[in-house]
Amino acid sequence: MKLILLGAPGAGKGTQAEVLCKELDIPTISTGNILRAAIKNGTPVGLQAKAYMDAGKLVPDEVIIGIITERVAQDDCKNGYILDGVPRTIAQAEALEKAGITFDDVISIEISDETIMERMSGRRVCEHCGASYHLVAVPPKTPGVCDKCGGKLIQRHDDEPETVKARLEVYHRETEPLKAFYAQRGLLKSVENQPTVAETSQAILHALGR
Ligand code: AP5
Repeated sequence: MKLILLGAPGAGKGTQAEVLCKELDIPTISTGNILRAAIKNGTPVGLQAKAYMDAGKLVPDEVIIGIITERVAQDDCKNGYILDGVPRTIAQAEALEKAGITFDDVISIEISDETIMERMSGRRVCEHCGASYHLVAVPPKTPGVCDKCGGKLIQRHDDEPETVKARLEVYHRETEPLKAFYAQRGLLKSVENQPTVAETSQAILHALGR
């Protein structure tokens, strides 16, 4: 299965990708995580991406398309993959089509901007492995410590309220039009965010006919 997870910043794409990746036994490709790793490692892509990400802006399309075409060609993607946070512009979606990268389903997680603003203040991520938590909804077993690797939990730079507002504006302007793009192709399935991660996963699996 080749799947895209669409949704606003903080809609829960990364959280759901982690659940679906185990459930469907296919890898997740998150451009956000790939770019954060590139920044941490000081690679040329990371150096190019950092200023855009810190400002809540989109990284240029050509950088993203290069990352994705290279990644989906790898062996572990032969039975399918979940794209988390990509494409996020019509230009990216068209470039993927042109490269022959096709999809079976596009899930859009629907959530209000108000809920996002509340939620982002509670998100914490592991500075070592990138695992994501929420102080109330998805707390770690020991406060401030990652369950998976013992790393320190921190707040992402781009989760400051002003940057979240900028990211939401970019989402509505650049990414939301992708819903119509994939609806026209008969691929779009909209799923309402649910109060818990497990209920949202159930709703997505139901939409996928699982
Ligand atoms: P990226 O990392 O992809 O950020 P994003 O899309 O803004 O999404 P987030 O990671 O912030 O949120 P999410 O939807 O994964 O939510 P999460 O599961 O963590 O991108 C960062 C930046 O990289 C971009 O701004 C851009 O600069 C650049 N970039 C990346 N891809 C790009 C592309 N294709 N083109 C150009 N630039 C690109 O959940 C959020 C919180 O809510 C967590 O704390 C979680 O625990 C909690 N939560 C989740 N679900 C629930 C629930 N149902 N109930 C209660 N709490 C929940």
